Amino acid sequence: MSKLAPKAIHSHFSKIANRYRQLRTTDAEPIAFVAKELRELLHVEAADIGCGAGRYTLLLCKYLGNKLRLICVDANGNMLKALDTYLKEHGISNSVAINARAESLPLQIGTLDCVFTFNAVHHFNLLGFLQESARILRDGGYLLIYTRLQEQNHRNIWGRYFPEFSRKETRLYTYNSFVKRVARVPRLRLQSIEYFEYERVSTLEQLVERARAQHYSTFLLYSAEELERAIGGFRQNMRRHYKDVSRVRWLDENALFVIRKEE
Ligand SMILES: C[S@@+](CC[C@H](N)C(=O)[O-])C[C@H]1O[C@@H](n2cnc3c(N)ncnc32)[C@H](O)[C@@H]1O
Repeated sequence: MSKLAPKAIHSHFSKIANRYRQLRTTDAEPIAFVAKELRELLHVEAADIGCGAGRYTLLLCKYLGNKLRLICVDANGNMLKALDTYLKEHGISNSVAINARAESLPLQIGTLDCVFTFNAVHHFNLLGFLQESARILRDGGYLLIYTRLQEQNHRNIWGRYFPEFSRKETRLYTYNSFVKRVARVPRLRLQSIEYFEYERVSTLEQLVERARAQHYSTFLLYSAEELERAIGGFRQNMRRHYKDVSRVRWLDENALFVIRKEE
């Protein structure tokens, strides 16, 4: 099992903050689902925890429109700067940004209709974050957690063909470990889980570029030498499995946990 010091992850996010949105693929489907789920609410006071450079924050603002007032929270100052520029560029004025940790949120008890987090929960102390969410949500409020499960990670192109990727990435939750943690927090109840599948197409060399740019923080778990060796192995595996590496197709999968605070 590989471990990363919190400082190393923080400095990784600081380094890639300005490029983060370009390095990752952003999917609108979960936000369309969220907008549908929240359609009955006339006003949505919400927080996006671990908002990063704001790619999902912007989509939330677009899909929920004027009924949304959003607090964007991240522990990384560079990410928050990138977020601020991005939201200003898009004329978004219904949000504020706070530098804070998911496990200790400077927000009042029972004030939010919704807490969101996208692709970040495996960086948090999950129990601490769930307890904080239960504290700041109003009765009946929503906690919406979008993440890649460990099972999904094993099945994607990196898990299948990139040497050691699955074995090294132990931070992601399995379905069972996630559900068990939610059940441990008083007043939180799992309402449903939505599964998303995305068809991707890329060239092998674009994939290699992404790995070198460490688009997933999993790649930080490799030393420079290990990473180069693994890229060699990845190229070989991909050529063995795909006839045409200039048009590689695969599926990415994610899960959205819809959790409610009991009335
Ligand atoms: C993988 S990025 C995802 C960013 C964004 N949600 C997205 O999908 O583009 C994870 C983000 O969580 C932040 N983060 C990590 N640990 C955190 C914590 N304990 N509290 C608050 N933010 C944290 C990082 O700084 C980073 O911006």
